[in-house]
Amino acid sequence: MSLASLRAYAISKKVPIITDEVYLFLKAFVLEHNIKDVLEIGTAIGYSALAMASFGCNVKTLERDEFMIDEARRHFDLFDNEKRIELIPFDALTYEGDLGMFDLIFIDAAKSQYQTFFNKYERYLKKGGYIICDNLHFHHLTPDKVNRHTQALLRKIKVFKTFLKEHPHYETTFYDDGDGLSVSKKV
Ligand SMILES: C[S@@+](CC[C@H](N)C(=O)[O-])C[C@H]1O[C@@H](n2cnc3c(N)ncnc32)[C@H](O)[C@@H]1O
Repeated sequence: MSLASLRAYAISKKVPIITDEVYLFLKAFVLEHNIKDVLEIGTAIGYSALAMASFGCNVKTLERDEFMIDEARRHFDLFDNEKRIELIPFDALTYEGDLGMFDLIFIDAAKSQYQTFFNKYERYLKKGGYIICDNLHFHHLTPDKVNRHTQALLRKIKVFKTFLKEHPHYETTFYDDGDGLSVSKKV
């Protein structure tokens, strides 16, 4: 099975994974910035972790959902031939194990918790490293067209974007690729 067939499998199972645009963005980013060690929050079935491993990265990836953990394990056993990926089957909100230091942290988990993930894991980022967050456009939904729960989520994402813009130790650029990305450089 190739990454392309894993993508097709994810779509058939309705598992949200990075878009082709984000795949290409990450590939170019990893190569341009010589990224070697990646921490990912939100594994799902392992697609983006396998993608980054195929770009030459070593990836530690956190996932809390039992079904996703089983699926990711199966896919890593099958396709991670160079053993570049370590699956950490824990909730990223409460995980307290030692992780090491990373060139890139890729946040692609519960959108309502992005600021918490950022604050909790940025201490594992090397100086000059990057934090990339996916889905910041949140499907371009607007508050007038969604229920209260989604309105609260949209407010949280807005607050998070302001937090990124104003963070004294990070320089953040926003991109429209996929469903919206932020790239924050630790300065
Ligand atoms: C959008 S999917 C990840 C897709 C994956 N990065 C890819 O592109 O192949 C988000 C995943 O984050 C997981 N997740 C959400 N909150 C989490 C948390 N607090 N800790 C660990 N995993 C979490 C969900 O179970 C889900 O599988």
